[in-house]
Amino acid sequence: MKYLLDFKLSETRPTQAGDAMLVLEPLDKEKGAAALAEARPGQFVNIQVLQSHGTFLRRPISICDADAEQGLLFLYVKDAGAATHCLCNAREGDVFSILLPLGNGFSFDETYSDALLIAGGVGIAPMLLLAKKMNEAGLSPSMLIGAVNKDRLILTEELSSVGNLYISTDDGTSGEKGFVSQHSVLCRDWKHILCCGPLPMMKGIAAIAKERGIDCQVSLENVMACGLGACLCCVEDTADKGNVCVCKEGPVFNINRLKW
Ligand SMILES: Cc1cc2nc3c(=O)[nH]c(=O)nc-3n(C[C@H](O)[C@H](O)[C@H](O)COP(=O)(O)OP(=O)(O)OC[C@H]3O[C@@H](n4cnc5c(N)ncnc54)[C@H](O)[C@@H]3O)c2cc1C
Ligand code: FES
Repeated sequence: MKYLLDFKLSETRPTQAGDAMLVLEPLDKEKGAAALAEARPGQFVNIQVLQSHGTFLRRPISICDADAEQGLLFLYVKDAGAATHCLCNAREGDVFSILLPLGNGFSFDETYSDALLIAGGVGIAPMLLLAKKMNEAGLSPSMLIGAVNKDRLILTEELSSVGNLYISTDDGTSGEKGFVSQHSVLCRDWKHILCCGPLPMMKGIAAIAKERGIDCQVSLENVMACGLGACLCCVEDTADKGNVCVCKEGPVFNINRLKW
């Protein structure tokens, strides 16, 4: 089920990378708790940013964390343009209309003990809820995250608390030097890879996974508008069904379905 709810910004946590972690509370506690309980890792919200006057369309942001008991939604936002700039600089008490939870997220079950979560840049955000849900399922997820340098690494503390965290930075200022696709942990015998990040990174990981016969899911970030499969602005040409809406059919796809 999808919910269209107003959320109040209760806190903005500044981050080392200069982005913002928004902590939002639903005004309707009952429906909010129901929406947050339904949120699955890899799903996203579509948020209206009226504070950004030139922004007419809602903006898609991954669900970084969702705490149904406390009634809190966590969104990690990178200042990438007008709307995200307003979100990063919103004031406590500001209210946002949010459509959630949207799309199909990552799939896993209790056999995913040999899965590696790989993420880069703002693609690290959805990995927190994924790692937490895997943890709740009795798994101890291994995660590999990458960034240009140590200052751009995000959510390291939060991720380390729910699994084994491996790091790579382009300049070697933290973890192994190089891209995530070059990290030594990838040489282990992984059965599954769950990946989110910049397109070239995901394509590189998908190529490795295909070559080694590793099952691999990636989360696409095609430009979106409605988030509901109505406007067709987010289509991806798939091997099995032709053009599909990433917002509805994805954003997470098994790489076997993609024409990469
Ligand atoms: C499924 C999904 C999950 C995302 N999760 C996050 C997240 O957790 N945190 C985060 O900071 N960002 C996330 N993004 C990216 C975020 O949606 C864009 O940065 C945001 O829409 C930019 O809007 P803007 O007005 O600030 O910038 P604009 O000036 O409009 O654009 C800046 C950049 O963002 C891209 N962009 C613009 N509009 C969209 C759109 N509707 N959908 C996708 N990309 C767009 C543009 O191509 C451009 O490169 C996600 C995108 C998708 C599709
Ligand atoms: S964003 Fe409108 S169809 Fe996907």
